[in-house]
Amino acid sequence: MTRTLLASAAVLALGTAASAQVVGFSQIGSESGWRAAETTVTQQEAEARGIQLQFSDAQQKQENQIAAVRSFIAQGVDAILLAPVVATGWDAVLEEAAEAEIPVVLLDRMVDSDPSLYLTAVGSDLVHEGEVAGQYLVEQVGGEPCRVVELQGTTGSSPAIDRKTGFENAIAGHDNIEIVRSQTGNFTRAEGKTVMEAFLQAENGGADICALYAHNDDMAVGAIQAIKEAGLKPGEDILVVSIDAVPDIFQAMAAGEANATVELTPNMAGPAFDALQAYWDAGTEPPKFIQTESKLYTQADDPQGEYDRRKGLGY
Ligand code: AHR
Repeated sequence: MTRTLLASAAVLALGTAASAQVVGFSQIGSESGWRAAETTVTQQEAEARGIQLQFSDAQQKQENQIAAVRSFIAQGVDAILLAPVVATGWDAVLEEAAEAEIPVVLLDRMVDSDPSLYLTAVGSDLVHEGEVAGQYLVEQVGGEPCRVVELQGTTGSSPAIDRKTGFENAIAGHDNIEIVRSQTGNFTRAEGKTVMEAFLQAENGGADICALYAHNDDMAVGAIQAIKEAGLKPGEDILVVSIDAVPDIFQAMAAGEANATVELTPNMAGPAFDALQAYWDAGTEPPKFIQTESKLYTQADDPQGEYDRRKGLGY
């Protein structure tokens, strides 16, 4: 009897394993705390749903991502998650996935390919994020003159392009606010610091800078260090506004060293797997864009509490 039950359980277990959907995930790398959290959440979401996730880290290289997607196609996976490092150059490999009838879901960044080549994209309105950051600054400075330095994300990536556009939209018509320097910091803390050091040097030791706009929190955290090393007070002498809402920026906000951040949820995989499940089960086509929320947090929004709530979440 026990033996029969065990045998049935083994068959069931085998049955489950055999029917588990396999999803390939081509991740950009681990350039930021936000990216690390997205990877963790994706792995957790897959595990919770019994999905077998094949993970590939592209180390910031598009050619590695293309090779990973080709390898997923060759394996015949049930779907592919792609967080595209840059926006261009995806047509050929997406056509190959479409020919193999493997649905592709874009995570957090967009591509310039025809939308028919992917099932859906999960992400925030990246232009809106830049607008929210810009509007915050407009309200903070009022009519005072404000020379802004900008740390851009990875060149050619959709968040770098769109967050710049959004910020520029928000400050348009406010002639007292001007972006005086703008350079990529590649979404990393180290490059954010190095580029900010150069900005400070070029701008009278920082005395001529009113605000920093960074396309992500990691670059802002690096820049905050540079501002402190230059003998200035980040958050006071130089306002600091960025995007992501990672724990470290809340710590900086709690210490008065950063002013605001716009949240980007790292849980892109939840909505992506929901859409895929409906597609696998009933062929349901999701909308082409599944939008996540973009919420502004300032020093008035309990930054210490936000830090405590987020610190164990894989950032
Ligand atoms: O594509 C989302 C951006 O990529 C995040 O804002 C940034 O931290 C990451 O590297």
